[in-house]
Formats: sequence, structure tokens, C-alpha cells
Amino acid sequence: MSTQLLSPIQLGLYQLPNRVIMAPLTRMRAPNGIPTPLMATYYAQRASAGLIISEATPISPQGVGYPSTPGIYTTQQVLAWQQTTDAVHAQNGHIFLQLWHVGRISHPDFHNGALPVAPSAIAPEGNAITPSGLKPFVTPRALAIDELPEIVKDYRRATKNALAAGFDGIEIHSANGYLLDQFLRNGSNQRTDSYGGSFENRARLLFEVTQAVIEIAGAQRVGIRLSPSGTFNDMTDSDPEGMFVYLLNQLSQLNLAYLHIVDALEGDVRHGANIVNLEVIRQAYSGKLIVCGGYDQARAEQTIAQGKADGVAFGQLYIANPDLVERFKLNAPLNDADTSTFYGGEAKGYTDYPSLKG
Ligand SMILES: Cc1cc2nc3c(=O)[nH]c(=O)nc-3n(C[C@H](O)[C@H](O)[C@H](O)COP(=O)(O)O)c2cc1C
Repeated sequence: MSTQLLSPIQLGLYQLPNRVIMAPLTRMRAPNGIPTPLMATYYAQRASAGLIISEATPISPQGVGYPSTPGIYTTQQVLAWQQTTDAVHAQNGHIFLQLWHVGRISHPDFHNGALPVAPSAIAPEGNAITPSGLKPFVTPRALAIDELPEIVKDYRRATKNALAAGFDGIEIHSANGYLLDQFLRNGSNQRTDSYGGSFENRARLLFEVTQAVIEIAGAQRVGIRLSPSGTFNDMTDSDPEGMFVYLLNQLSQLNLAYLHIVDALEGDVRHGANIVNLEVIRQAYSGKLIVCGGYDQARAEQTIAQGKADGVAFGQLYIANPDLVERFKLNAPLNDADTSTFYGGEAKGYTDYPSLKG
């Protein structure tokens, strides 16, 4: 079979050996927010991916919303992440760090009793995953306008820290209902100041964050993840196509390494999502496009062959198949992922999935 998926691609500064991208995957195995040596092993096992995008990584204590997620705001975290970047580079891999602020998808238990923050004081439906189990989301505190520059500063510091830790670049997490996505959507953003209302206003925080990250890392080492059709974490919008076409037109001018789109998933369709088609996205964005969401090898090849995307990210397949690229090359069978070990725990269901080579 002729393959474009396994052919090289230039993403920003980097010439990568293939277009098989490891999707960002939260695994909640970093007690006290400190990356572990086991994480270095896990990422190094997957280093034949064209590019690894790390699990979502909080930029500040305020940005935390899940137990045992690794941060990038203390010296100890930077030093601990170096084990991962060194291990990936020793296998000739490339790894970007996904920068994360969860916004309202958190709980006072993470903040010494203080409320999580959001664009507006609107509680999401559902439960927070706290260290002592599931608890209903609370109504968050709306951020004051003079707090927003502080958040941009946190992204700036996190970017400096990520580069100091040896990451090859940054992915800004603006998908899946977390803080930057909460600002983009009028279901969660009902501000009446210059950060709410129009498309431009709702995109303002993302633009400011992106500008700050670019100033530190250079646009050619920066990607952005968006989920235009997403409903996860209670996201709604009256006109997602309008919002995202505006945003993609603007982002086209920045010469980013890539844009990463989470396609509509089954759950989004079930929740009656207002789907923004990939064709519309491709039309609106002129740079390199990675897509993700329920792809297998055949569909990935087809999507690239049809010119709808330049690369494809795989989530669950990468959890279960450290040597996914080699398996694709050989058309080898794939391991199944064990969902019970996705979040938390240790080596089981993490570093013990077999490779073909054993
Ligand atoms: C266990 C798990 C953890 C995830 N963590 C993240 C994350 O940290 N950041 C993110 O942007 N998406 C995250 N996602 C979403 C995946 O990156 C991906 O978009 C999703 O799994 C769909 O792709 P797939 O069908 O290839 O798995 C996660 C998904 C799973 C299953």
C-alpha cells in the first residue's frame, strides 16, 4: 500500500520521519505534580512517533484540575521533566509539551478551598475528579479583567520552563472545554468586557497567550489544539462555525508549526453538537493541519491522501501500542487498550504493553 502517513513531514523547525503523531494523553501518574522516571520510560517507548505531544500539563497551581497531573511551574518539575525529554531524544524522537489551564474544570479541593476560575460564573454539568473521588462541579469565580495578564504571564513562564526542560516545542491546549476553550464559547463566556461578546473578544485571551508563547519559543515551535465540534466538559456555542472560521483565518497569519484539530467524536454527535466539518477547517486555515479522533491507519491514510490533513494523531492506539509506527509499517495486529488503567496507577497498563520486538 502506498503510504503518505509514513512519509516525512516538516512541522515548523522540525523535519519529522513520519506523520503519525502521539496525541496528548493525561495518565495521572505524577504524584504531587512531579514527573517520574516511569513517565520517561513510557514516552521513550513511543519515540518512533513523528512527534509526541505530552499529556496536558498545568502552567500554574490555579490551572490544576485533576490529581497527579505533572506541572511545569516549579524548578523541581523542570528538572524532573528533563528525564523525559532526554529519554525521548536518546531515541531520536521529538516531543512538544501541551500547556494546560483547566479553568472551571476543577474543584476547591485543589485550591485550598478557593473557587476555580472561569470567564463567567457558570457551573459546568458533571463531576470533578478530586483526590478523594468524584464531586459535583461548583460554580466558578469569574476572572477579573486585571487577572488575565497574570494568566498570560503564567503561560510565558511555563514556556520558558518547557524549553529549559528540553522540550522541542509547545502545544497550547485550547480544546476540550478547558480555560481557553471556555473563553471561545458563548455557552461558558458571557462577559460584557473586551474578552466577551464578539468573536474577536472571545478569542482575545487565546491570541494574547499565543503571542506570549511565540515571543519565547518562536512560532515555528508552537502548535495549538482546538476542538471546534467538541461538547466535552459541557461546551456549547451558538455559532461554532462562525467562531472557528474567524479564529482559523487569524491563526493562519502566525506561521505556527501546526494546528491540531480534534474531530467530532461519537459523544459530540450524541450530544447534538453543531459539527464544524474538516473541509471548512481546511479551507479556513492555510498552515499544517493535524487531525485526531477515532482514526485508524486506513482512515488516516485516506484523510491525508484526500488532502484534508497533513498528519494524524492517535490517542488510544498509542496507549496500547508503543511501536505503533512499526506496526503500521508491517500491517501488524494492534494491542487493545485497557480502559481501567488509563488514569492513575503505575506500570500496569502504562509501560507494559508489548512491542513486536518484545
Ligand atoms: C486517557 C485519555 C487522556 C487524554 N488526555 C488528553 C490530554 O491531556 N490533552 C488533550 O488535549 N486530549 C486528551 N485526550 C484526548 C485525546 O488526545 C484524543 O483527542 C482522543 O483520545 C481521540 O483520539 P483517539 O480516538 O485516537 O483516541 C485524552 C484521551 C484519553 C483517552
